[in-house]
Amino acid sequence: MKIAVVGTGYVGLVTGTCFAETGNQVTCVDIDEKKVARLQQGEIPIYEPGLDVLFDRNIAEGRLNFTTSLVEGIQGAEVIFLALPTPPGEDGSADLKYILGVAKDLGPILSQYAVIIDKSTVPVGTAEKVREAIAAAAQVDFDVVSNPEFLREGVAVEDFMKPDRVVVGTQSEKAKKVMEKLYAPLVRQGNPVIFMDERSAEMTKYAANSFLALKITFMNEIANLCEKVGANVDDIRRGIGTDSRIGKRFLFAGIGYGGSCFPKDVQALAKTSIDYGYDFRTLTSVMAVNQDQKKRLIPLVESYFEGNLQGKTIAVWGLAFKPYTDDIREAPALENIKALLEAGATVTVYDPEAMDNVKRLLPDLTYCHTAYAALDDADALMIFTEWPQFRTPDFDKMGKLLKNKVVFDGRNLYELPTMKEQGFTYYSIGRET
Ligand code: UGA
Repeated sequence: MKIAVVGTGYVGLVTGTCFAETGNQVTCVDIDEKKVARLQQGEIPIYEPGLDVLFDRNIAEGRLNFTTSLVEGIQGAEVIFLALPTPPGEDGSADLKYILGVAKDLGPILSQYAVIIDKSTVPVGTAEKVREAIAAAAQVDFDVVSNPEFLREGVAVEDFMKPDRVVVGTQSEKAKKVMEKLYAPLVRQGNPVIFMDERSAEMTKYAANSFLALKITFMNEIANLCEKVGANVDDIRRGIGTDSRIGKRFLFAGIGYGGSCFPKDVQALAKTSIDYGYDFRTLTSVMAVNQDQKKRLIPLVESYFEGNLQGKTIAVWGLAFKPYTDDIREAPALENIKALLEAGATVTVYDPEAMDNVKRLLPDLTYCHTAYAALDDADALMIFTEWPQFRTPDFDKMGKLLKNKVVFDGRNLYELPTMKEQGFTYYSIGRET
């Protein structure tokens, strides 16, 4: 199949590369000339494990191309993906200017039937708006389909190639056939392509992310209560996760969810609810609890240092919002570092991938080349991302480098008995101190 992908952000690039891998002829379109030039030279602008191998292979075999020209990109394309940004506006609603802008441009240049696919996370009703924008100037027949993505950063290629399910919103039989053909190589193991109407597909994406955010937030509140009643959240997680109605995944308590998706999507769904006159109270609570959760460790650090962080050096392990990404959007580390700086502390940091991104925002931190270098002469360690290399550190070495053997762990990486044995004071989430 000939496919065009408009927008070479995270979703666009993964979609384009993976569909090239399944044998399609893919052209990715982006207005950013510098980015397209880099892509044409074989350079991937994002960090995503496993993407490079597919990217290089499909460029070398001529199935993956890049252009700044929409007309050229959609030439002969049977399928056109819109993978464009939907940044939150001031009121939390998703801003559709990029998607509707491209939709308007597509109308007059479509020269044959095409399925235009909304891949971006967009509010309910967007497919209709995209259809109207294209129809205003279209000379040929076309369909607009909602096909939300469920990729996790860090494992996006695997999620794309082996999806739990593919959600397709369309009522056109012609478009359905095209979508079935497109996804056939990815659902061979029997995972379903679930067809529904466009509005339901759009809503499914928000419901999935909001439900996962709710699940995490619920566990974070259980953890907070565990600390008070003297219970251990790890045991609770095991105890409830084995109930198949609940499920084992997304039950890890911690320093709050971040990233480019959950915070934005929960906020957008809350805004949609307001627009439709519905008070979605669980969502409002999720947002408020998560905001507090991100700062959960700060009062503990303050009280450890008797209310005075002036002149103290705090080492930070982990800046990315989660492991295997350099993405720092809504990362809990950032808010915590700002709070530490405001309280007069100096901050030394280490992250295997995300330091360059943080340097642009906070140039005055001390950026270290290794996790241990960040500990040198620091008064305490705080952990915000569960990179695997932090899980089994040399505790002896840590103890020698740190001025005080104290760790504030937002990701529950260690067990209290081990830490006690090693002589550390250890604070984590939802467990005894
Ligand atoms: C999320 C969804 O998982 C994807 O299905 C979806 O496609 C994507 O958003 C999107 O809308 O584009 P992502 O933001 O990449 O993916 O990351 P997740 O792995 O879902 O983690 C989100 C946040 O939840 C992270 O801050 C993570 O640390 C936190 N989390 C996750 C927990 O605190 N506890 C858990 O048990 C799981």
